Amino acid sequence: MNPLIINFTYVVSAVLFIFGLKMLSSPATARQGNLLSSLGMLIAIIVTMLNAGLDYKWIFLGIVIGSGLGAIVALRVKMTAMPEMVALFNGFGGISSLLLAWAEYHQNRELSVFIALVAFLSAFIGGMTFSGSMIAFGKLSGKVTQKAVVFKGQHVINAAFLVLALLAAAVFCVTPASDFGYVVFVLILLVALGFGITSTIPIGGADMPVVISLLNSYSGLAACAAGFVISNNILIVAGALVGASGIILTNIMCKAMNRSLANVLFSGFGSTIAQEAGAGPQGEVRTASAEDVYYILEAADSVTFVPGYGLAVAQAQHAVKELGDLLEANDTEVSYAIHPVAGRMPGHMNVLLAEANVPYDQLVEMDEINPRMESVDVCVVIGANDVVNPAALDDESSPIYGMPIIETHRAKTVIVLKRSMNPGFAGIQNALFFAENARMYFGDAKASIQALVTEFKND
Ligand code: TAP
Repeated sequence: MNPLIINFTYVVSAVLFIFGLKMLSSPATARQGNLLSSLGMLIAIIVTMLNAGLDYKWIFLGIVIGSGLGAIVALRVKMTAMPEMVALFNGFGGISSLLLAWAEYHQNRELSVFIALVAFLSAFIGGMTFSGSMIAFGKLSGKVTQKAVVFKGQHVINAAFLVLALLAAAVFCVTPASDFGYVVFVLILLVALGFGITSTIPIGGADMPVVISLLNSYSGLAACAAGFVISNNILIVAGALVGASGIILTNIMCKAMNRSLANVLFSGFGSTIAQEAGAGPQGEVRTASAEDVYYILEAADSVTFVPGYGLAVAQAQHAVKELGDLLEANDTEVSYAIHPVAGRMPGHMNVLLAEANVPYDQLVEMDEINPRMESVDVCVVIGANDVVNPAALDDESSPIYGMPIIETHRAKTVIVLKRSMNPGFAGIQNALFFAENARMYFGDAKASIQALVTEFKND
């Protein structure tokens, strides 16, 4: 095929990727954005395949098996297990880049220094992405311990792996054609797999979404390097886009938790023992029954729901939507305030509320709701804890100090739905639960909200 046509089609694909990515930034356009990017990828695959000299029977077999497995897994996966699936995808992307670099090198060992360097990058980053993603998958699915596995000398081992990889890369780049060069390349693969494991195990299960986003970025960089190995422009572009968007998302998550990437990667957050219930802030807890909460909500002019991880655990999104509709029918202004790291994965709350058909215009971001929090009659906190903990604002000794929060404590009344006084992800108690304007409405979030719906319906 004419290289001009191929490259022009690749440009079309790249434009579709970029517009698709842009559309992913809003829940209202995310689905179309996904479709647009997929179309870009389909076009790129078809053009690459039509480009002479390929053994179609093997490719066809691969497509059938891969698409079949992918479709089955995607249809069966639970929304809450999405990060696990993304971890697997990243891992497979990484191992593909590794295998591609290896296959190219195996076929032709006479590599220029530049191609040897990109082959090293593709294999090394791809390998560590694969093994790191498998650990991330294991942690999220509970197949390996969710705790941060920290041991003495861990940083030394990781540093040793990196130094070894760099030395091996230097040797490989100057002697790729020799048998010794081949052995060094295999050594690089082993070091990459080892490094992926040792650099991921010290990270606690609940920090895995950040790590997955970072691994996603790595898989993009590996693919980009693989694109240079086989001189494929669209692989270079797509890899660079994945690499850049992954690192941007990682940065957004770290900022929203007020933690540096180094803190997420190296601090062993999650290996520490959670603060005992009873330690931390103390005071009188004012509880409320379904009937009490009903009267408070019924009299409110404005209600803001603040969902958190507990909403996902309880799968309370449909019940919340039903309650929201009843409140609106009662002339109450309803909104949903979403913290960027509420739940356990990026966009977790948006996905759940979208599933329940909550209108997008009722979703408000943290920066939008906080300045007008004093005018909100009732904030209903549903299974959120850390993202509404005022210690982030005023307790310098708190592990979450400096993290931006949804300042529900400044609303006229706060109702907190959770099952107990137990802490959330950060393992710390929450002074909000003892605030004068707060009422604790204990129970499973879904059952609690359903009880409120019944109160409204019986009215
Ligand atoms: P958390 O602070 O983890 O609190 C969740 C609360 O939900 C718990 O206190 C729990 O209390 C309650 N809960 C659990 N199951 C429930 C149920 N069935 N019904 C009612 N309540 C239930 O959640 P959050 O406020 O969403 O904060 C998220 C945390 O995860 C932050 O610390 C954030 O930094 C971290 N994190 C998030 C991400 C992303 S990308 N979202 C990534 C890494 C880390 P009970 O047990 O008493 O019910």
